[in-house]
Order: sequence, then structure tokens, then C-alpha cells
Amino acid sequence: MTVDLILGLQWGDEGKGKIVDVLTSSYDIIARFQGGPNAGHTLEFEGNKHVLHTIPSGIFHPKAVNLIGNGVVIDPIIFFQEIDNLAPYGINFDEKLLISKKAHLILPTHRLLDAASETAKGKAKIGSTLKGIGPTYMDKTGRNGIRVGDIFASDWNEKYQKLTKKHIEILKGFEDSHELNLDEMEAVFIKSIEELRKFKIVDSEHYLHQAQKAGKKILAEGAQGSLLDIDFGTYPFVTSSTTTAAGACTGLGIAPNKIKDVFGIFKAYATRVGSGPFPTELFNEDCETMGQVGNEFGATTGRSRRCGWIDLVALKYSIKINGVTQLMMMKGDVLSGFNKIKVCTSYQTSQGFQDYFPYDVSDEDIKPVYEELAGWNENLTQMTEFSQFPQNFINYIEYLEKALETPIKIVSVGPDRAQTIYR
Ligand code: GDP
Ligand code: IMO
Ligand code: MG
Repeated sequence: MTVDLILGLQWGDEGKGKIVDVLTSSYDIIARFQGGPNAGHTLEFEGNKHVLHTIPSGIFHPKAVNLIGNGVVIDPIIFFQEIDNLAPYGINFDEKLLISKKAHLILPTHRLLDAASETAKGKAKIGSTLKGIGPTYMDKTGRNGIRVGDIFASDWNEKYQKLTKKHIEILKGFEDSHELNLDEMEAVFIKSIEELRKFKIVDSEHYLHQAQKAGKKILAEGAQGSLLDIDFGTYPFVTSSTTTAAGACTGLGIAPNKIKDVFGIFKAYATRVGSGPFPTELFNEDCETMGQVGNEFGATTGRSRRCGWIDLVALKYSIKINGVTQLMMMKGDVLSGFNKIKVCTSYQTSQGFQDYFPYDVSDEDIKPVYEELAGWNENLTQMTEFSQFPQNFINYIEYLEKALETPIKIVSVGPDRAQTIYR
């Protein structure tokens, strides 16, 4: 009767895709609640690696139904690229993939607007994935958006033309309007819409209410991370949706009192891709090691991810906002070989020490204050039980649990499904 949530506590790419895949065998329905193809969720099993953008990460399991919720924004072009990539797996999408009528569509012109807006910002750019996320959510909240359900309406084409025309007018106001690619993109878009009509498009909130009544187990899958949340993230360097727990209520139509566990995922260090403040960011050999060993390249854009030490000020904030009940620590294996592991416990600012996440997390003002823990040299990637872990790694886990006042229930020691240790 209840719903569990899984979401990232840092700046995204914590390993949500892997953990959703690992947990799916215990659930009947996996439901994505926000974001769009800005997400890149990586899964590895049986020697294969998959990156999903819009499709929920339970899609490889034989039974679970995967639902793209109303809070998601869908680019039909990217959606069909994902569908094509899944062709070798013979997935019966008719049975296993549902799309909310109320999810909003990303139009080709939304992508052009995203690019024009970023270019116009110059040095202050957000570092967007340029998938049209911001402009699509702007149209949604501005009450101009087009929803998946609209593709069946007799005035669909009219609606599409009207919004596109409006976007073209707005684009003219930008110096660099990126207008040239439109015809090509539009042809693929129109074809994708025709294909989309063949998919199972549902009243998703109704579907989920019925499922809850029937006692089905639902796992809501978040995208991005809490520090990219439109309200609580490092604004304006955020994404345009509610990435925190509340987003599962609005993005799926689930009541707050139906939520049971909130699984918060974090990396044993920290990464960020795109612009914006990152107090514990490193610019030395340590970050190079983290980037190389952790393979820290964006799953959507291929950009290098910025790396740094774990930030407890930020993590405590995320845990509070989301009501996290259990933690999952990813990528501890990447820290093997570091002599000392640093943990940021507070920020030193011009106003003194601060142990809560401030209004303006600007890089210049904030100096992270670190505690140091002893590192470990053992390779963790082949370990299968908690008892095999080196004592210093256990010390690190226990230190974090104590500081974060939340149990760490899963420790991940590699990208593969099998490299997952339960406590
Ligand atoms: P998501 O967006 O939260 O789903 O995360 P991404 O897929 O963008 O990035 C996480 C990356 O780390 C992917 O390349 C995963 O395959 C990889 N990964 C996940 N867990 C682990 C782990 O415990 N150790 C290592 N080394 N890699 C991991
Ligand atoms: P997953 O689900 C990491 C970042 C972008 C940029 C900012 C705004 O894989 O964790 P947008 O395209 O939304 O306008 O970009 O947010 N960003 C992500 N960073 N992981 C993601 O998703 C991200 N989705 C967006 O890099 O800084
Ligand atoms: Mg990702």
C-alpha cells in the first residue's frame, strides 16, 4: 500500500540508476517523477552497460511496470533513441512501459531556446545539458505547455504550430538564435509523435491509485540531485524541477502520507557537472584520481565531472529536506589508495563557522573545514560482504552514519549490479 522513494542527495549522478535496477526485483512499479533527458542513469549487469534518460531504470526486469510520470518532460526524439537502444532486449513495452498523459513534451524549439538562453548568459551560464528542460518547465508553469495527452486531440497540430511560432518569435530576440537546425529536428519530431501514439499513454495518477489499492509496491525514481532542486538547490545553478521528495507527490499524484521509505543516495566523495558553487571542489591530483578511477564523465553529455571531498553540511541539508530514512553509499571503491580521506564538517565564512547550508553558496566566501580520517589501500570491488571491508573503510561508513544520524543500508563497491553490499 505504500510508496518508497529513491533520490540523489548531491548534485546528481550519485548512482540512482544502478540502485533502482538493484531494488526493482522487490517492487511492482518503478515510476520516474521529474526531470527529463537531462538525466543519464547508468546500469551495468552481465558485462553490459546501459544509459537511460527518460525510461525508468526498472525496465530490464522481467515483471516490473515502468511508468513515466506527469512530472517528467519528454523529448520524443530522445525517447525513441532509447527505445531503439533497447531493441536487442526484446522488451514488451506494451506491458512494461506506461507514459502519463500529463507529462509535458519537449519541442525542438525548447531545445533551441535552451541553447540561445545559455549562450546569452555568457560566463554566467548554468552549464545546462541543453535538452530543453528549462524552457519546457517554463511553458508548463506559464500554462502554455503541450502535454502527451494532447497528441491525440484534433487540434494537436494547431497547438504545436502555435507554440513553435511563439518560440521562434522569442528566439529572434536572442543574438545567437540557433534557428538553423529547426527543419531537420522538426521532421524527426513529427515522426516521433506518430510513433508515440502507439505507446501506452495513461492517466498515471489514477493508475497509481488503483495499484496502491491493490497492494502493489511502488518505487519512485528521482532524477538529478537535491542540490539541483529548483527551490533548495544552489540557485540559479539548478535544474528546473523539484528533485526532492516533494517532487514525487506532485510528479506522480502520490499523497505524502503514502510515502514510507525515502532512500537517499550519495557518493563517498562529491561531484558536480556544469557550473555553480561546489565548496569542496578540488583542483589537484586527488580530483584527477577521483575522476579517473570513478570514471567521472557525464552519462548524458560526456563532460568531465568536477570532483571533491564529501560535504556533510550539504548532505545534512538534503537529508532534512527529503526526510531520508535510509542511506546508500556509492563508489567507496574509488577512494581506495587515498592516504587520508577528508570530510567537510562545516564552512568558514566571513560571518564565522557555519554548519548549515547557506543562502548563497558562493565559492569565494565559503571555505570548507575538514576532518581527516585514515584511508585504506584494499581493493573493495570484489568484496561481497560487509565483514570483508578493511577496518578504515568501516570506520568511514560509521563516522558518516553517526554524523548524518541516518543508517547506511547499502554500500556499493562498483558499477555492476552484483557489486552491491547490504547491511
Ligand atoms: P545517476 O545519474 O545517479 O544514475 O548516476 P550516473 O549513472 O550518471 O553516474 C554514476 C556512475 O557511477 C555510472 O557510471 C555508474 O556505472 C557508476 N557507479 C555506480 N555505482 C558505482 C560504484 O559503487 N562504484 C563505481 N566505481 N562506479 C559506480
Ligand atoms: P542525473 O539524473 C548531473 C545539471 C546540468 C546543469 C544543471 C541544469 O543523471 O543525476 P539542465 O539540463 O537541467 O538545464 O541543467 O543541472 N544536471 C545534472 N547534473 N546529473 C543530472 O542528472 C543532471 N541533470 C541536470 O549539468 O548544471
Ligand atoms: Mg546521471
